[in-house]
Amino acid sequence: MSATPIGLAWRQVRDRFRAYGLDTPELDARLLAQTAFGMDAMALVRRERDPVSDEQAKLLDQFALRRLAGEPVSRIIGRREFWGLDFALGDATLDPRPETEQVVAEAVAFLEAKPSSSLIDLGTGTGAIAVSILSAVPRAKGTATDMSDEALAIAEQNARQHGVADRLQFRRGSWWQAVPHTALFDLIVSNPPYIATGAIDELSPEVRVFDPKLALDGGWDGLEAYRAIAAQAVRRLNPGGLAVLEIGFNQGDVVGRIFGRAGFGRVEVLKDLAGLDRVVLASHS
Ligand SMILES: C[S@@+](CC[C@H](N)C(=O)[O-])C[C@H]1O[C@@H](n2cnc3c(N)ncnc32)[C@H](O)[C@@H]1O
Repeated sequence: MSATPIGLAWRQVRDRFRAYGLDTPELDARLLAQTAFGMDAMALVRRERDPVSDEQAKLLDQFALRRLAGEPVSRIIGRREFWGLDFALGDATLDPRPETEQVVAEAVAFLEAKPSSSLIDLGTGTGAIAVSILSAVPRAKGTATDMSDEALAIAEQNARQHGVADRLQFRRGSWWQAVPHTALFDLIVSNPPYIATGAIDELSPEVRVFDPKLALDGGWDGLEAYRAIAAQAVRRLNPGGLAVLEIGFNQGDVVGRIFGRAGFGRVEVLKDLAGLDRVVLASHS
């Protein structure tokens, strides 16, 4: 057994991170230590003086080295908090981003006014959007799709963890090909890949190296997924339905035009807290 107490072990990691210039050294060190030691935040405080085993010390050191090599904490611990819920991540899933919560907020506001409703989440990844919406709107049910079987398995695991698996179906396939032609929905949500292929190399290493390419690559101009989704969106929606799509910071005009030309009567571009284009709302009257 190593004689190092738990409190000292994680603080040493914090100090290494601080010396290296990481943005959030204390938070990162605590989260990695919790995972390495198999403890929650409370236990890390309560058991400060307990000794760390050699195995736990080794695991924490490996985690620290990965963090110092640029790997995001969420990837190392395999979890991410989104919409106040804990989501498992996998190699094939995007690490859900806080800005995507704006898609969830718009969707929940729309569905809350309805007695019952069905949604489709195209390109669900961890299931972050669909699972969060269904956990907030107990009357709603939905379908979540992805090209990746591995992502769908993680999404299903997250749906089970948050008690919505009985209201969420999972289907593999490219955009609308994943669901029968006859399936209609009240709400379409999607955060599709929207980075132009040629711009992927310019992304920060945390994104470029650790998020799967399938989750990022939006084709030559970054808009291929929007064109594929818009092509059938009107005919897949019940009257009065809504499409809520996350977009890149400068894609409001062009994605708005794609959905306007696809037959949506009303299209609105919403900005995020930083004042950048973030969400397109397209209504079907
Ligand atoms: C930007 S990620 C978003 C993931 C998740 N919805 C979120 O917001 O965290 C895009 C997702 O679309 C999936 N995807 C990529 N191409 C697809 C396609 N042709 N059909 C369906 N899903 C696709 C990727 O596997 C990935 O999970």
